Amino acid sequence: MKIRTLDDFDVKGKTVLLRVDMNVPIDPDTKQITGNKRIEEVAITTKALDGAKIVIISHQGRVGRDDFVGMENHAKELEKFCGKKVKYVSDVIGTHAQNEIKNMNDNEIILLDNLRLCAEENYEFSLEESAKTLMVQRLKDLFDLFVLDSFPSAHRTHPSLVGFAQVLPTCAGKLVEREVKQLENILTVAKSPFVIILGGSKVDDRLNALKMMIKKERADNVLLTGLIGNVFLRAQGRIKFPLNIKNEDELVSEAHTLIGEYPDVFSTPVDIAVNKYGERSEIDVRDLNKDDQIFDIGQKTLDYYSKMINGAGTIFISGPAGFFEKENFHFGTKSLLESVANSMATSIVSGGHLTFALKKYDLSEKVNHISTAGGALVRYLTGQKLPMIKCLEDAANGNNSKV
Ligand code: 3PG
Repeated sequence: MKIRTLDDFDVKGKTVLLRVDMNVPIDPDTKQITGNKRIEEVAITTKALDGAKIVIISHQGRVGRDDFVGMENHAKELEKFCGKKVKYVSDVIGTHAQNEIKNMNDNEIILLDNLRLCAEENYEFSLEESAKTLMVQRLKDLFDLFVLDSFPSAHRTHPSLVGFAQVLPTCAGKLVEREVKQLENILTVAKSPFVIILGGSKVDDRLNALKMMIKKERADNVLLTGLIGNVFLRAQGRIKFPLNIKNEDELVSEAHTLIGEYPDVFSTPVDIAVNKYGERSEIDVRDLNKDDQIFDIGQKTLDYYSKMINGAGTIFISGPAGFFEKENFHFGTKSLLESVANSMATSIVSGGHLTFALKKYDLSEKVNHISTAGGALVRYLTGQKLPMIKCLEDAANGNNSKV
């Protein structure tokens, strides 16, 4: 794969648009950042851009969700890792943002506001159409170089991810460069059986990708936890009440179809830890009732999943098993990560939550590859070309439309 990197450009005195992924976990009550691993990593690339005027852009959360917040706290957090001032600008594509960019001096860093405040950024575009969006048209002439460094969103085709690459000289940032190299190396030696451990709450994104992974023989056993686990439990008829999540009927029906097509692949929790006034209570899945708050997997599930992990050749784990940030409910996430770290398998740990947890439990040194990407990595493992990689390859081959 041929892509250009920062080594191919002299950035001194240039105005650089740096697309990163600082989409981090946010406490729903306090709105504070609860995991800063993705922010910490951005500093690797800002340091490599020494001497440039750096304008950083990122999305945070999804519109309408608890984690959809502005970027002011991200700027403060990033400042700690960059070792220099990061100015937060409360605008994305308006005249305020444009004037701030025009008035920058060399070596300054500004962070624009949450990209998803801009309606266009919430939609997928074709590569050609993305270049015509208001976002790209308003900002493109302010920059000399576009640096793509947001591997966690490499599967999306939002304007900030694929549009600028059509109209500006473009290269990979340090994180994307590292990620692509390491994954290529790992996947050429990956051995079966492939055990996939999936948790977290992004169910719709995962179902399609799971099907492709199974077809491509990249998922021999799929061990489910978190919300996606609950959806499969519902499809199996082991949870008998509605979960009250968006598009529940469609998701459960898709899960049902997958179980029917691949009956031996999926494993779901046998016991669950529920929240009883802050205390942990483990019960059999069949004893759940609709008022129970499912916060973690139980010991029996962990024992069963650990056996599968011990027999794996390659393990991919993404998404927490429960509310690991809450006292009394970190058991499942922590113990699964420990099992993975202690296994003989080649291990890939993926996603913002788990990379944060890995660091918290001091396990980072014991796994083979850590990626802050979640959904993007799942897609990558299906063998599909990610839009971001396509943009970088096109840019390296001179195939992007207007440069
Ligand atoms: C992620 O966390 O997977 C990326 O930031 C993409 O977020 P999205 O799924 O909301 O597009």
